[in-house]
Amino acid sequence: MLTSFTKKRIKPYFIQTDVFKLPRGTRDFTPEEMQRRRYTENSMMTTFQKFGYKEIQTPIFENLELFTAKSGATIIDELYSFKDKGDRELALRPELTAPVMRFYVDKLQMEPKPLKLFYFGNCFRYDRPQKGRYREFWQMGCELIGASTPEAMAELIALAYHAIKETGLKNINLRVGNLGYLNQQVEETLSSSNCYTTGSTELKNNTKSEIFRLIDKEDYEGVRNKFKESGVIDKKIIKFMDSIDANNIEDLKKFSVKPGLEQELERYNKTINLLKKFGVDNARMEMKIARGLDYYSGIVFEIDAPILGAEKQLCGGGEYKLVPLFGGKETPTAGFAIGFDRTILALESEDFTFPKETVDVCVIPLSNAVIDRSLEIASDLRNMGAMVDVDLMRRGVSKSLKYAASLHSKKAVLVGPKELKKNSVIIRDMDSGDQKLVEVNNVIYML
Ligand code: HAM
Repeated sequence: MLTSFTKKRIKPYFIQTDVFKLPRGTRDFTPEEMQRRRYTENSMMTTFQKFGYKEIQTPIFENLELFTAKSGATIIDELYSFKDKGDRELALRPELTAPVMRFYVDKLQMEPKPLKLFYFGNCFRYDRPQKGRYREFWQMGCELIGASTPEAMAELIALAYHAIKETGLKNINLRVGNLGYLNQQVEETLSSSNCYTTGSTELKNNTKSEIFRLIDKEDYEGVRNKFKESGVIDKKIIKFMDSIDANNIEDLKKFSVKPGLEQELERYNKTINLLKKFGVDNARMEMKIARGLDYYSGIVFEIDAPILGAEKQLCGGGEYKLVPLFGGKETPTAGFAIGFDRTILALESEDFTFPKETVDVCVIPLSNAVIDRSLEIASDLRNMGAMVDVDLMRRGVSKSLKYAASLHSKKAVLVGPKELKKNSVIIRDMDSGDQKLVEVNNVIYML
């Protein structure tokens, strides 16, 4: 029996409405939204295929360690991680590069090179939701394995650019950077800091990664303060800021002191010059690209849609090192992922006209007596390749025509007992309202 104490606390089930709401940061998609998404997906997929990329798929959850191996345990805060009933530590994937590299090391290492793979899938991040930032979002991405020539990198970057452009988006910016260069500038600036134990070349704290994080957030005031806190003199900080403002090869070379970097900058410069051969004229050299994830090295790039404001980054990518970490034979790897949801938001912001989902014809029985024959006519038309809907509601013709209009149907076929006696139906053009008597066998030619 319930005591008054427990009685007070038990709420009727129907009051707990939150249970039946969407989890924070997730979305449902209406048929119209799905139509936009499918259009965008098909457009990007076609571009990937035109460049010789082949689709793969990996699981939605992975062993947690796949994502912590490179980034350390701090990344767990940004993940959806959990233990399953067998006490295994798992995580919903926050991105697909690590899973694809796991797959490559496991099963694809012997494939001919370069190996060009693409994927489309949902990702999960414990982000603070806002417009353009969700806890469940979709990425469409490519990974290129086994090639790092300037032409390989230029093709990859051009592919990201064209995949976005081909959707119909007009205004995007492509910036290409180099982490070898940026890393050297940060290390050189920190060399006079108090971040080293005397006699050691190992940084004793996480200042370097903190500076990379601040650059990624475009918090340059924060970068200056961090250097200052670490004991770096103003002159060196100014030189650092100049070095990351450099945006042509001559200036970049002036700031490069480490042997080997000059050669790397030549490859970077050649990559950017080659982009024109792939129809990309507006790539910018940008040394402030730090990328948020820990596995990058070498050439990196980002594509923004300025119309989106705060969450404007549509695509990020570059060269990275994960294969040896996962037990594979060292090989060059590079890739990118396009934020699929943001691409759609950008298209909507530019008032892009998405193709409408239509049917070729809506078949409308004009009385209950002709329903069977109407279904046969619809079936025959479908078998001949038409997209056909039939009004299933047994209602008056004006309501049926309204329904046909809501489907954006191009034509309506009105099936009436009188016309059927002559083996004919009425075809109505839904735009003009013109009607014609047509023999049933000839309907297909009128669509
Ligand atoms: P990322 O920059 O973390 O890179 O993500 C790629 C894109 O996914 C972003 O540019 C953004 O458009 C979209 N995105 C990220 N987080 C969210 C979110 N919470 N809501 C909506 N969209 C989001 C990567 O994930 C790398 N794996 C890319 C890569 C592939 N690098 C090499 N290969």
